[in-house]
Amino acid sequence: CKRSNGKAMKQRLLVVANRLPVSAVRQGEDSWALEISAGGLVSALLGVKDVDAKWIGWAGVNVPDEVGQRALTKALAEKRCIPVFLDEEIVHQYYNGYCNNVLWPLFHYLGLPQEDRLATTRSFQSQFHAYKRANQMFADVVNRHYQEGDVVWCHDYHLMFLPKYLKEYNSKMKVGWFLHTPFPSSEIHRTLPSRSELLRSVLAADLVGSDIGELKCKRHAFEEGGNIEAQKFPIGIDSDRFKRALELPAVKEHINELTQRFADRKVMLGVDRLDMIKGIPQKILAFEKFLEENPTWRDKVVLLQIAVPTRTDVPEYQKLTSQVHEIVGRINGRFGTLTAVPIHHLDRSLDFHALCALYAVTDVALVTSLRDGMNLVSYEFVACQGEKKGVLILSENFGEYNMWLAAENGMFLRLTGGEWMTTMPEHLNMDWVDSVKHVFEYFTERTPRSHFEHRETSLVWNYKYADVEFGRL
Ligand code: G6P
Repeated sequence: CKRSNGKAMKQRLLVVANRLPVSAVRQGEDSWALEISAGGLVSALLGVKDVDAKWIGWAGVNVPDEVGQRALTKALAEKRCIPVFLDEEIVHQYYNGYCNNVLWPLFHYLGLPQEDRLATTRSFQSQFHAYKRANQMFADVVNRHYQEGDVVWCHDYHLMFLPKYLKEYNSKMKVGWFLHTPFPSSEIHRTLPSRSELLRSVLAADLVGSDIGELKCKRHAFEEGGNIEAQKFPIGIDSDRFKRALELPAVKEHINELTQRFADRKVMLGVDRLDMIKGIPQKILAFEKFLEENPTWRDKVVLLQIAVPTRTDVPEYQKLTSQVHEIVGRINGRFGTLTAVPIHHLDRSLDFHALCALYAVTDVALVTSLRDGMNLVSYEFVACQGEKKGVLILSENFGEYNMWLAAENGMFLRLTGGEWMTTMPEHLNMDWVDSVKHVFEYFTERTPRSHFEHRETSLVWNYKYADVEFGRL
């Protein structure tokens, strides 16, 4: 890549996502602590290596004062991050409102919230305007930091206007847009009042990517000229990071502690953001049914559910939290004893090393999303299992690569066609897993597919491929 003055330069990548990989917590007027942010997008992109990249996004906090903004900008610069400062009102309307109350449920087939069905309602209109305004703010920051030759890679449903705004600033900018969620069928998508404006803006990008199936791009549908590439780039994790962690003495010790602690029980594990798409109540209800139908298992199994709080200002998420607490309390009251409870439910994230140890001792991981993009918890579990080769139970209707990942690692899983692939590890009790399987089938929506094509699966982010594609632009 060359600058216009003829000098060679290293190509930079500007990643733009709503959320930065670190979230800021204020310690004092001008001091900040940075914590790794939760979510699949962050986990996936942390695996991108050997690239001169900067990440532009929101640090998850309102910083109204200039002193705080300057100090945070400086702290983030050390992590190669550039903040976009969003005030409380914008966060409320754009992030809590249009992103998380409109687009997120719609893209996961949960429909529009009732009051938003009429495009004329004031809340919908103002949320949509705030969404555009926020996208413009992201575009301004990108434009300020852009250097000729940079590749700008925009992420997710929060930033669908960004490709258009960036191209308006500079039509030569190389812009990619990547969706990490499912994209709904046209029957669902057409219920969104501003759908066409949103899609046209995305199609201003040179490359549109997604990690899950059936992405089709037809710019000609809008009778506009120009070509756009639409590609599938299945994301993954940096599996070596997990494997390395398992070698650390502190993690080994933690594994020993957990093994002793749960010596008399099979460990089932769920790790999810506390989101309605993750099927957490369904999972816990299925576990209750399992205990109900299998009394002999009541003191031999434990479900550990790590539920990472997310989008806590959105009423739907608040309702979900209470609902999950209510169900867990009821089941523990019903099946617990004076010395043990069947469900350990944690409303927080675990630090990375504790999480690796937990994955390593787990017998059955439950990933029960109702709809999902690429779910990386299953990848993380596989990476930490080593020779243990436990059981991975996956629901349908999300990243098909998740299935191949499990299959190729000798895991036991459910295929979408309704058949089970039985590469059962010998040390697990077949009857037990059969009952679990039966109960989870009961709670799983079935969508038979006739054909399940084998594809190459990689545990690491296939960045090279993306690079080649960008290189062609
Ligand atoms: C999903 C989305 C990401 C998002 C993450 C966490 O994985 O695809 O774009 O960052 O959830 O959600 P949050 O709202 O906390 O950023």
